[in-house]
Parts: sequence; C-alpha cells; structure tokens
Amino acid sequence: MLCLTLTGKDCTESISQYIQHKTSVQMVELRVDLLKCINKGQIQKLTEAISIPKILTCRRVRDGGSYFGSERARARLLNSLLDLGFSYIDIEEDVKRPDLEKTAHEYNVKIIRSFHDLEGVPKDLFTKIVKLRRRGDVAKVAVTPKSINDVLLLFKVKHELREIEDKVVIGMGDYGIPTRILYKLTGSLFTFCSPDGTPAASGHLSPEIMHGLYHADSVNDDTGIYGIIGNPVMHTSSPKIHNPAFRRIGLNAIYVPFLVDDVRGFFQLAELLSIKGFSVTVPHKQQVLPYLGKISREVKLIGSCNTVVRYNNLWKGMNTDFYGFLKPIQEELDAQRIRKAVVIGAGGAARSVVWALRNYYCKVVILNRTIEKAKKLALETGSEWGGLTDIDKMDHADLIVQTTSAGMPPLENVNPIETYQFSGRELVFDLVYKPKNTLFLEKAKLAGCKLIYGMDMLVAQGVLQFEAFTGFTYPQDL
Ligand code: ATR
Repeated sequence: MLCLTLTGKDCTESISQYIQHKTSVQMVELRVDLLKCINKGQIQKLTEAISIPKILTCRRVRDGGSYFGSERARARLLNSLLDLGFSYIDIEEDVKRPDLEKTAHEYNVKIIRSFHDLEGVPKDLFTKIVKLRRRGDVAKVAVTPKSINDVLLLFKVKHELREIEDKVVIGMGDYGIPTRILYKLTGSLFTFCSPDGTPAASGHLSPEIMHGLYHADSVNDDTGIYGIIGNPVMHTSSPKIHNPAFRRIGLNAIYVPFLVDDVRGFFQLAELLSIKGFSVTVPHKQQVLPYLGKISREVKLIGSCNTVVRYNNLWKGMNTDFYGFLKPIQEELDAQRIRKAVVIGAGGAARSVVWALRNYYCKVVILNRTIEKAKKLALETGSEWGGLTDIDKMDHADLIVQTTSAGMPPLENVNPIETYQFSGRELVFDLVYKPKNTLFLEKAKLAGCKLIYGMDMLVAQGVLQFEAFTGFTYPQDL
C-alpha cells in the first residue's frame, strides 16, 4: 500500500490533497504536528471525508517532525483524537503511555511502534524491529542510510525477519530512495509519499512518481529489477525512458535510481535483489570493470562501461554511449560528410565520442582545458590535440562536439570555446541535455549551424540499453 502523508497547513488543504491523489494511494497519514491550528471539529471533517485507512501521527522535532509541546500534552492530544475513526496511531519507541495504548485498543486503532534515526542506521536494527513489533501491531523503522552498504542491510530485513510480517522499513534521504520505491522488497507492508513540493520527510517522493512513474505498488516476486547507479544520480531522466516502455510492452519490470558510493556493495545488493541489468553513470563507468565477466568490443576500446546486464550468470558490460552518440549523426557519417571532427573535452564522455568517430575513420582534433589530458587521449586514439584557445586547429571542421560539463548548472554561463566564430556550415553537437539550449549551441544557431541536442544522444543510448536489458525493441510511439 502507498500511504499519502497529508502536508496541508489546515484540514481543508489536506482534504484537497487527498482528493487530488486518491486514485494513487490506499492509505493516508494525518501529521497533526504539521497543522497550523489543531481543531478537533476540523479533524473530524477530514476523517469523515477520507474513507480509506488513516494513520494518526504527531511527530516530535527530534524525530523529524514539527511538534514542540511537552510529552504529556502530546499524549493528551493524541488521546483526544482516537475516537475519530483512525485505523492506526503512530507511537514512538520510547513512549510509555499505557493509557494511550489502552484507549487506542478500545477504539480498534492499531499501534504502529516507530523508531527514527535521522543520522544513520543503528547497528542493532534487526533486534530493534523485533522489539518494536512486540510492543505494537506494526513495527516501523525510518533510518538514514549513509552508504549503499546501509541500503543492503535494509533490504536484508525481508529475508532475515520474514516471520515478522507487520513491519515498515524506510531508508530516508537519497540513499534510501530505492527502499521507498522497492518497499515490498524490504518486506514492508506500506510506504509513504507526500504531495509534490511538500515532502514530509527527506526522500519522500510524490504519488505521481511512486505510482505514476514507478507503479511501486505493483512490484511482486516476479518483477524484473533494473536501475541506474551513480553519484550523484537522483537528477537522472533514465527512469522516464525505461519505466513507461516496460509498461507499454507489458513487461513486469521496474527501473530505479541507486545512489552508490561503493560499487562492490552495489554488486552485493544486485545479487540479493536479483537485479537483471543496470545503467552506470559518473563516477562508476570505470569502477565497474573489475566485476564484469564479459565485455563488449566498445568497452574494451573505450575502457568505460555504461550498461551492465546479467548474462548466463555473468555480468556483461556494454557501452551504449558509443552507439547513442553515433545515432543522430549516422546519415552524415554514411554519406562521408564528416571528414574532420573537433571534440571539446577529454573526460569520460569524450572517450566514447572520440573512439566512435575514429571507428568511422574521421580525423579528430581534441581540445581540452588541461592539454595533457587531450594529448593522452589523442595519442591513444590517433587524434590531434590542443588547448581550448587553439582555435586555428578547428579550421574546416565538419562536426564540433561539446563533451564538457560547461553549459550545465552551475556552469550554465560558460561557453568552453568562447572565441571561436562558427562558419555556419559545421554540424554542432552538445552532449549537455539540461538545459537543452546551451550558450555554445545558441551561438552556433545564430551562425546558422545545424544543431544536435544532448537529449538525442541520451534517448538513443537509453533505447539501446532498453533493448540490451529486455531483448525487445523500444516502443516507437514513446
Ligand atoms: P565526463 O565523464 O562527464 O566527461 P569528466 O571525466 O570529469 O566528466 O570530464 C569533464 C570534462 O569537462 C573535462 O574535459 C574537463 O576539463 P579538464 O580535463 O581540464 O578538467 C571539462 N571541464 C569541466 N569544467 C570545465 C570548464 N569550466 N571549462 C572547460 N572545460 C571544463
């Protein structure tokens, strides 16, 4: 079940939030501590307006909430609201109020015993869950994983504590996002989300994302798990490429972002969850190489891998950036209209681009801020090199490819080759996809150049990844 935490400043706003999302959620949580003014009559109107199960919660500041009053006042407040038709009340681990528990049971309100750790994951997590369940009808832990190894621990709960069915395990913050989306794989009964723009806790996603994009509530034991690893990774658009396509072709699969600090820990998680394939982004494209049992020709050439699939019990590494880059310029390459290409940058992205172009026998000039790095890649690939001010080396370029992070926030006002005057006949390709129009592309456009956007490559490499993951052609209409 997906539980919507109502974040309205009053009950009227919270009722509107419920109405807006009622087709996506099966339960709501009223956080009394978020209401500006607590009025029993208003809360009664809310409980009468919402027919699905409701959780009553009044969260203290130290547990991530907004309630400042005394413990006695809090217990009194919760007690006074128990006759309003709630299905659950959230009572924290340390609270010893037998009177509150007694009233809850008199009104048939089940007790969620909760534990919060806003700093990390306690070493005795499993024992804690056992103890919480003993003292309530549902055990709930909301902790803060600080590494992928912490996330691994949270997913181990399902198997290790399989005899405890009534539990909720939540990882907060960016590391915890997969535990929210794949909540069923932590053995959780339900998970929380809150309206877009007002997250009630760190890492809360909106119902549009949890239900609309991920269909988190449809995950079952047969769901094929895919994902993307990176650091940072939460800005990624890849879930929007893969999840709608899985649904369009009727495949029971999900694609989830994993913030990963340690590739080794992720491979352990991949075994635990039987992950079938994943995309790899910065800074792990080289770090995954030692774990691969098989690599494609492109990975061998470039020395970096952006796609990993399970293949006969081995991990196979591929590089769809290579073909994703070529796709939007394939016609020009086939017609041999790209004889000379200039590549700006000499980082990981540039490696795929230079190798792909050299594979078509294009003459390549690499210009980079740090000349030594341009020289190294150039010597490896049989290219020429220079610095960003060596504009004369760009003469007669048929294609100019921008591969650096210039143009992307916080470098949105940077054009890495500011002094270059486009002739208007060059094909100009910027790998940056957010924003679509970089300063570099805008200048090229003014000169009349034909432009290729980073999104074209992102989509092309994503489509190839989808085909490597599933064996199916990417749905044309998407
Ligand atoms: P990626 O894998 O995305 O290519 P990377 O390997 O870190 O990331 O490479 C970043 C590239 O962007 C490098 O070519 C870098 O130039 P340096 O080698 O001199 O560091 C380039 N880059 C980053 N910031 C830049 C800036 N402000 N101006 C010009 N080039 C920049």
